[in-house]
Amino acid sequence: MDHARQIEILGDKLVGSFLQTIDILSALLGAEERYYAGSHCRFVAEKAEETARIMGLSESDIFEIRTAALLHDIGKIGFPDIVLAKFPAEMQPDEFRFYTGHCELGREILRRHHSLATVAELVYQHHERFDGSGFPRHLRGGDIHIGAMIIGVVNVYHNAMYRRSKDRYQLADTGSSVASVNTLVDETRTRYSQVMHHFARKSGVLYRPDVVDAFTSLVETDRRRLGEKIIKRLTVNQLKPGMTLIENYYTSYGLLVAARDETLSDKMIASLVRFAEIGEIPQKVLVAD
Ligand SMILES: [Fe+2]
Repeated sequence: MDHARQIEILGDKLVGSFLQTIDILSALLGAEERYYAGSHCRFVAEKAEETARIMGLSESDIFEIRTAALLHDIGKIGFPDIVLAKFPAEMQPDEFRFYTGHCELGREILRRHHSLATVAELVYQHHERFDGSGFPRHLRGGDIHIGAMIIGVVNVYHNAMYRRSKDRYQLADTGSSVASVNTLVDETRTRYSQVMHHFARKSGVLYRPDVVDAFTSLVETDRRRLGEKIIKRLTVNQLKPGMTLIENYYTSYGLLVAARDETLSDKMIASLVRFAEIGEIPQKVLVAD
């Protein structure tokens, strides 16, 4: 084998190893997401990536934004339940101070890998707000990385739509059984209109207007498309990328394999098939197609 080819193979291995590192970190984070109905980090990553793409950002920016979105709450690993279970508005001042530390902690964890330097900075800034009212540095306007502003908006949306309070929390919550997409759309209608109203009011105040516009067009399209789909119960082998899951699927030990509202990728289908084979999730799953 010639030298150039050897270098190329080594390069591919290094890229693969880097991606696997990110994957392991996000799986670790996923195992900590007890207070969400669904996968918070995967949702934020998927929608932040799509928003960045609508905004015409470069592929390398999109990759960093997606990675930072996937890992944005890594600094919360090991946080006590008393903090994880509350919305910031419900926290005591000392709990809130502790909670705000997750940005700094996240940056400290991620900057250990030199290829994650920008990702670490985005994680550090994901609670900064356009008018300087965010944390930890009270940055404002153009001083905040656009990727951090995108992650911030998607993060607020997912919290408003899918965050579970402590009393609603139960192990292996498989979601309500949904008879049609209309039920699904109806169930979330109030929360959806509240959060979209919040974005419209706070555009240019808390959030960058171009980010709010791009994200709004994305979620409006998503909901309209979901409303046009029909719900089917398919065996895992019949699943195709692009279908949307209607329920959460957990293993018996509480690992979320795939979440409601997630768009299926090849990788997710492969893990659904694997977990169905060993009987950890049902052979048939509910999807909108
Ligand atoms: Fe956060």
